[in-house]
Amino acid sequence: MVTRAPQLEWLEGDVPKASGFQDTYFSKAGGLEETRHVFLAGNGLPERFLGRETFTVAEFGFGTGLNFLTTLAAVGDGNNPSELCFLSFELFPLSAPQLKRALDAFPELNAYSEELLSVWQPEPGWNRMTVGGAKLFLGVGDARELISDLAGTQGEKAGVPPGPIAVDAWYLDGFSPAKNPELWEEGLLKAAFDLTADGGTLATYTAAGWVRRNLQAAGFEIEKKPGFAGKREMVVGRKA
Ligand SMILES: C[S@@+](CC[C@H](N)C(=O)[O-])C[C@H]1O[C@@H](n2cnc3c(N)ncnc32)[C@H](O)[C@@H]1O
Repeated sequence: MVTRAPQLEWLEGDVPKASGFQDTYFSKAGGLEETRHVFLAGNGLPERFLGRETFTVAEFGFGTGLNFLTTLAAVGDGNNPSELCFLSFELFPLSAPQLKRALDAFPELNAYSEELLSVWQPEPGWNRMTVGGAKLFLGVGDARELISDLAGTQGEKAGVPPGPIAVDAWYLDGFSPAKNPELWEEGLLKAAFDLTADGGTLATYTAAGWVRRNLQAAGFEIEKKPGFAGKREMVVGRKA
């Protein structure tokens, strides 16, 4: 089985937009700043890295890898942890030329982008890569199916991280809930909750009412925060 690269349109500033979802991979107002505001600061990062030997981030929607690389850069700034484990899911992995074009817009991440590109050969199922000293576990397929590989019987499938998995920070980054409801379903968010460490957190750019309700039904305590670039609200959450 081969992976299907998405069909992309390129907006001004080389912002990729998925034709199939009619949505962009990150904000037209600045992808890097958006990632830092929503996903890093929303999860209390990089501050929460300090003093940790290992830290596990998980993400729905790997896309261009911008969130992953921005997280690596935040660790590389001299912060702990010594071991970062990054788990992500992607149904339509970008081709190498698409990935390169998207990431070329962020020269300050160049060293990490080149390393990612040098190992980028996504195959269906679990892919394990080492980038910038971090362990990347990329599940290629529908997150709703792959997530069950992480619960209970870890290690039985090739490439799945050794368990038990305790996610410290979730990046919920599907396309907008109206266009990509699959990644905001209550069942998936409940599976995410079950994999979360006590005190683990989540952040997402959307404050859609039904997504907030699904997060609460899954078990997270949630709170609204100011969004990025004029967006009134985003959501953060915590497993008490
Ligand atoms: C907003 S983009 C993610 C952007 C990404 N975090 C980045 O740093 O570039 C949403 C991603 O979710 C993926 N996606 C959509 N539905 C999915 C599903 N059911 N399972 C896994 N990935 C999915 C899309 O293909 C897309 O790459």
